[in-house]
Amino acid sequence: MIGIIDFGSQYTWLIARRIRELGVKTEIIPYTQVNSSNLSRYNGLILSGSPSSLDKKSSYKNYKKIFETNIPVLGICYGMQLIAKLFKGKLSSGKKREYGDTLLKLKKKSILFADIKQKIFSVWMSHFDHVEKAPDGFEITSITENNTISSIESKKYKIYAVQFHPEVSHTQYGKTILKNFVFKICKSPKDWNLSKFIKNKIEEIKREAGDGKVIIALSGGVDSTVATFLVREAIGNRLYPIFVDTGLIRYGDIERIKDILIGKFNLNVRIVDAKKKFLKKLKGVIDPEKKRKIIGHEFIKTFEEYASKIKGITHLVQGTLYPDVIESAGAGTGSAVIKSHHNVGGLPEKMNLKLIEPLKELFKDEVRKVGKKLGLPDEIIYQHPFPGPGLAIRIIGEVTEDRLKILKKADKIVEEELKKAGIYYKIWQGFPVLIPIKTVGVMGDKRTYEHVIGLRIVDSVDGMTSRWVKVPYKILGKISSRIVNEVNGVNRVVYDLTNKPPATIEWE
Ligand code: XMP
Repeated sequence: MIGIIDFGSQYTWLIARRIRELGVKTEIIPYTQVNSSNLSRYNGLILSGSPSSLDKKSSYKNYKKIFETNIPVLGICYGMQLIAKLFKGKLSSGKKREYGDTLLKLKKKSILFADIKQKIFSVWMSHFDHVEKAPDGFEITSITENNTISSIESKKYKIYAVQFHPEVSHTQYGKTILKNFVFKICKSPKDWNLSKFIKNKIEEIKREAGDGKVIIALSGGVDSTVATFLVREAIGNRLYPIFVDTGLIRYGDIERIKDILIGKFNLNVRIVDAKKKFLKKLKGVIDPEKKRKIIGHEFIKTFEEYASKIKGITHLVQGTLYPDVIESAGAGTGSAVIKSHHNVGGLPEKMNLKLIEPLKELFKDEVRKVGKKLGLPDEIIYQHPFPGPGLAIRIIGEVTEDRLKILKKADKIVEEELKKAGIYYKIWQGFPVLIPIKTVGVMGDKRTYEHVIGLRIVDSVDGMTSRWVKVPYKILGKISSRIVNEVNGVNRVVYDLTNKPPATIEWE
């Protein structure tokens, strides 16, 4: 197993993921919990990057113990600077910043760069400080095009360090470098895979839940469904999935839950009908943030009310993924709130429950693979993301029953046509938005004066950025004519040609 000491970099879990992809187990150790006795179980240690600088005030000497273990170490970015500082090299701050793609030149033969045929290749940098002088006993193995030291090593101490990020996909040969460290230097066994992950996770959930009773707000989406099935494998009927029908869900959602999750998979979901309550609370509300807050608040209230009827609940499961963890970490560090995301945030503290987050170290595609291994159908695993506040944020302006009806019908058509055209599973998201302003049309020789539907079809890797998809005109035409013909109250369809940024994916 490889231990990754996390100094607060946003890439720590990406390092973990890359090592997992090599078939090796990893564990993340927060920098506050490093002590030499708990390090001996690792074949190798990776020191992550950090948003902090190693200035005079930093308590870097605490980490000396890492190097007393004689375990091979790879320092990345801040990790490299920490190594240089502890071994009495020289650091420089702010003089040679490098961000993004940078060319690296190999200077000395190194086992870390084994199997790389090129002497010059591209690496991804993101640093403010750098190592100006390597410590005694360390060799400089590469420099960048800007003459910055980009890697050092001490074969004797089995310590290796790189200024760039081998874990990001922009670094050419990043995977080879990590592979060399993990196998050639640390001699790690290759024995991690998703089946083992599932087996271990189930044991972990059993331990965490003890004899307790556990609830989950099941939305029918990928994350909460996979989390539900994983926890059910661990504790069976002591899991109580609750589906809150806000009325803001998609056409056929309830049927899908009844047919597949209850019918086929025998899941004991309780469906709470809260449609009227949500509509009442949203009456007259136009401001998007207000809508999100009202829905979030109402959701928590409904869930809490219902959960309190089940005696002895001790834990709450959340289908949090790794990108959610990064986003919420960012939220506390001064980054602006673009939209308040509504999942079931705030519930565990409010209800005094312990939290179980079985997916929090995984990325979406890994969660999908777990779902597949648990036997869930593609219809659930590969469905598009759907926002917590549901269709409410796809109806511009006030949410009413009539508007919901219109949007649900249009949504069904968009999904059907994207599936028929073989596009649905290749893109991130495709959905209609109701723009309830009226425009003039003509149907059957009569004048019409009705609403507009905006089509949003985007591709993305993680939802953080996105591009509008160049869907063939024929398919767009088909979607448009079906919506205008089949959905009463709509006489015009427009296509959204904006990327994120500057626009967001959802319209509100
Ligand atoms: P935006 O609109 O912020 O959306 O560009 C990025 C991705 O997140 C989804 N989204 C949400 N998901 N709760 C969620 O679970 C929310 O409140 C929420 N708002 C947006 C959106 O569908 C897209 O995939």
